[in-house]
Order: sequence, then C-alpha cells, then structure tokens
Amino acid sequence: MMSYTLDKEYIRWILEAKKPETRENRKVKIIEIILARKKNLMEKIKRLETERLLLEPMTINEAPFILELYNSPNFIKFIGDRNIKSIDDAENYIINKFLPQFERLGYGNFLIKLKADEKKIGSVGIFEREGLEVHDIGFSFLPEFEGKGYGFESAKKLMETAFSELGLKKISAITSKENVASQKLIEKLGLNYLKTIKLPDDDDELLYYEIENIANLLQK
Ligand SMILES: CC(C)(COP(=O)(O)OP(=O)(O)OC[C@H]1O[C@@H](n2cnc3c(N)ncnc32)[C@H](O)[C@@H]1OP(=O)(O)O)[C@@H](O)C(=O)NCCC(=O)NCCS
Repeated sequence: MMSYTLDKEYIRWILEAKKPETRENRKVKIIEIILARKKNLMEKIKRLETERLLLEPMTINEAPFILELYNSPNFIKFIGDRNIKSIDDAENYIINKFLPQFERLGYGNFLIKLKADEKKIGSVGIFEREGLEVHDIGFSFLPEFEGKGYGFESAKKLMETAFSELGLKKISAITSKENVASQKLIEKLGLNYLKTIKLPDDDDELLYYEIENIANLLQK
C-alpha cells in the first residue's frame, strides 16, 4: 500500500517537475518525498549494530558526509571520481543511486557510525550493479578510520544479515588490482577470487570474488 502511495507521489512530482517552477519549489517537493520514503524505509529496514559500530540506511541527510567520503583520496584513487562536487550533487546521488534500491530490495548502502560518539566514519553496502549478476559488497572509510578493523566488522555484519535475513544466495565483491587493502578485506570476509572482469563503460580489469550462502550450499 505504502509503495503504491509513494509511486503515485513520485509520478506526480515528475509531472510537476516538468512545469516551469523555481528550483527551490522543486527542492521542497523532493524533500517531502524523501521524508515519506524515509519513513517507509525506516519501517522496513533494520539498523544494524556491532560491538563498536552502528549501521543505518543512507538517507538524504547524509549528503555532506557523502560529499566528504566520495572525495577522499583513496575513494577517488581506488573506486573512482563520482563527480560529486557539492551538497546538491551528493543529494542527487543519494536520491538516484541509493534510495531506489532500498525501496526495491530493502537493502543498499549503509552509513557507518562509531557507537562511542556517533562520529560518521564510512559506508558499507550491497549493491545491484549493471554488469554483475550477483550483488556486490562495497566499503569505504574516511582516511583516518582506515586500517582499524571497521571494514571487517561492518561488512561481516551486513553479509551475515544479507544471508540470514534478506535471503541473498550469493554476494560478490570487485576491486582493482592495485587495491591491496580491499583485496585483503574481501579475502578475510571469506569471499573467493574467481576471475577478472570488466564492467560496462570501464576499461579497467577488476578482480571478481564471490561467496555463497552456507544455507544455500547445505540445500544442494
Ligand atoms: C579498503 C578498505 C575499505 C578496508 O577497510 P579497513 O577498515 O581499512 O579494513 P580492516 O581494518 O577491517 O582490515 C581488514 C584486513 O585488510 C587488510 N588491510 C587493511 N588495510 C590494509 C592496508 N592498508 N594494506 C594492506 N592490508 C590492509 C588487513 O589484512 C586486515 O586484516 P587483519 O586485521 O587481520 O590484518 C579501506 O581501506 C578503505 O576505505 N579504502 C578506501 C576506499 C576503498 O578502496 N574501498 C574499497 C573499494 S573496492
């Protein structure tokens, strides 16, 4: 029911957005829809918790954090430049890339916060990606929070939840040949290297890993 209401609202917004309107009016409408979606998502998607970390679905409120994270040197070097240069760009990225997948599948990109002081330190997510049949896990941290075990702690929790509660049969991971930290983390999480691949519109050859849900393996 809720998603029907949201779809109707979304269509109304798209139709109205075609009319000549000021940018501010459009922004107010976007925020209204995002808040409705957020409420819907919050009812549907769990927050996750580990010994040191809180994982929350990424919302439009995190645009300033996404702007900072996605412009971190190692993010640009190893993942790529997503061309997010302003809060507006970051909001659009969250609206277009993260929220639709959360609505469709019930999982996506999670903000990672330290339990101790609620400091926002990074993100971990399971993504539907063009060119990959199996949804992949991805992570990134602000520079000062790399190498402290947060990658393993957050990704392990998300993978366990994906297998035990979200019903995923397999999870993949991709990384570049140069990204040794990421390769180590992926292997520590139990994924197995299978092959090199290229994604659409990307010339780089990437390393491809997979892990199968143990419950799925036992059924075979
Ligand atoms: C890759 C990344 C997510 C790893 O997260 P992390 O929190 O630093 O990783 P962890 O501290 O949990 O470490 C997990 C394992 O990775 C290895 N590792 C971590 N950092 C490493 C480094 N700089 N060099 C070599 N190995 C490293 C260690 O073997 C570690 O296992 P150990 O603790 O048993 O020794 C993080 O470095 C990062 O944000 N990098 C920039 C963005 C990025 O490249 N994301 C991945 C895209 S595919």
